[in-house]
Amino acid sequence: MKTAKIIIDDREHEFPLVTGTEQERAIDISDLYAKTGCITLDNGFQNTGACASAITFIDGDKGILRYRGFDISELADKLSFVETAYLLIYGSLPTIDQKSLFSRYLTENSMLHEDMIHYFVGMPPRAHPMAILSSMVNSLSIFYPLSFVDDENPQEFDRIAARLISMIRTIAAFSYKKSIGEPFVYPRHDLKYCMNFLNMMFSSPVKPYEFDLEAERVLNKLLILHADHEQNCSTSTVRLVGSSMVNLYASVCAGICALWGPLHGGANQEVIDMLEDIQRNGRKVKDVIAMAKDKTKNFRLFGCGHRVYKNYDPRAKILKDTCATFLAGRHANDPLLSIALELEDAVLHDDYFIERKLYPNVDFYSGILYRALGIPSAMFTVMFAIGRMPGWIAQWREMHDTKPFRIGRPRQVYVGPAHRSLP
Ligand code: ACO
Repeated sequence: MKTAKIIIDDREHEFPLVTGTEQERAIDISDLYAKTGCITLDNGFQNTGACASAITFIDGDKGILRYRGFDISELADKLSFVETAYLLIYGSLPTIDQKSLFSRYLTENSMLHEDMIHYFVGMPPRAHPMAILSSMVNSLSIFYPLSFVDDENPQEFDRIAARLISMIRTIAAFSYKKSIGEPFVYPRHDLKYCMNFLNMMFSSPVKPYEFDLEAERVLNKLLILHADHEQNCSTSTVRLVGSSMVNLYASVCAGICALWGPLHGGANQEVIDMLEDIQRNGRKVKDVIAMAKDKTKNFRLFGCGHRVYKNYDPRAKILKDTCATFLAGRHANDPLLSIALELEDAVLHDDYFIERKLYPNVDFYSGILYRALGIPSAMFTVMFAIGRMPGWIAQWREMHDTKPFRIGRPRQVYVGPAHRSLP
């Protein structure tokens, strides 16, 4: 076994060197404190591996993303979101029987408990859809109570997982209908996952939704691209909250709240706001770039930069191409796409962004596609959450199955006042 040596006060301590499947290396410091009396300090967890995981692999330098070993581009081209969800949660592609059982659970759990509808009635129409989503997902534990997932009854986990993946879609569509003052459209048992969502969003009593296969294909791709991304802010939150042994609904609700922030999933809404602002006010791209570089301004180029990718985010590449083909197929032209392309070109040729290895991330082009699908910008982060749900569930389950099971509990270096007495 290879080891790493740390010297503290002239004493040498040895720690195991752990190597992952893709040869990434980590120093296992689980007994660092016991051996040395020291802890590690890593602001923002930039170098801390919080777990070993077999779900998603990212090589940020090469721009690689794989779920369970499969390249993201292959998955996005060939699988359905439901198959991808199964792959993430259960570790392998479903057999025909497994797929039909999983689909049955999704269908059976698509309807919200009718009493939950009253919650929507009391919510102000201008409420942010992410606030509605997190409240409603948390309230699933009121309507479908559970203490923890029963190890003796794996089917219980299967049903809860399917309920979350299915109901988040219904909640999202209902919150949209609420915001525009239209009656809710209930899920249909004869429609597949993505088409069912589009129907709940865009059917109305006066005009039924005209099934749009191309829109379904694009939505499917968007959801797959968002389905997991290893130990990001929201997923780490789900794991940390879940490690207290609270139920899965509460754990993913915390993940939804973490996703909402503009530095994380909320960036997709910020990108469109930024592009619209450039268009509305006739701003020049070079001025926006200058503002993003100016440290005296509290402004960042949203949809750009990533903690792990120091190369082009592979999801952004797929979304950029999908934007072009989807809009061309509809003979549509979104001026925001032209602005985004101009911004990207400026970023890729500017020393500030080159030196810091800042490239477009998943949020840079996703909003343009959501807009083309007719989804309003306030819903963009909700769409991200629908896509991310299988990943959160898979990560929660893996965390729960890890032996020995440990509550997540980081340490700190205290820098406040030393001991003192009251006057
Ligand atoms: N615009 C301008 N400068 C940036 C940007 C940006 N979008 N992103 C990073 N930088 C600069 C920082 O100012 C910093 O510069 P400095 O070294 O001169 O101080 C340097 O690049 C490193 O940035 P950090 O914030 O230290 O990098 P970190 O890994 O902590 O942050 C993050 C990553 C939060 C994604 C950041 O790049 C950012 O704020 N991007 C914009 C928001 C965004 O798009 N978020 C979505 C990310 S993808 C996702 O979560 C789904």
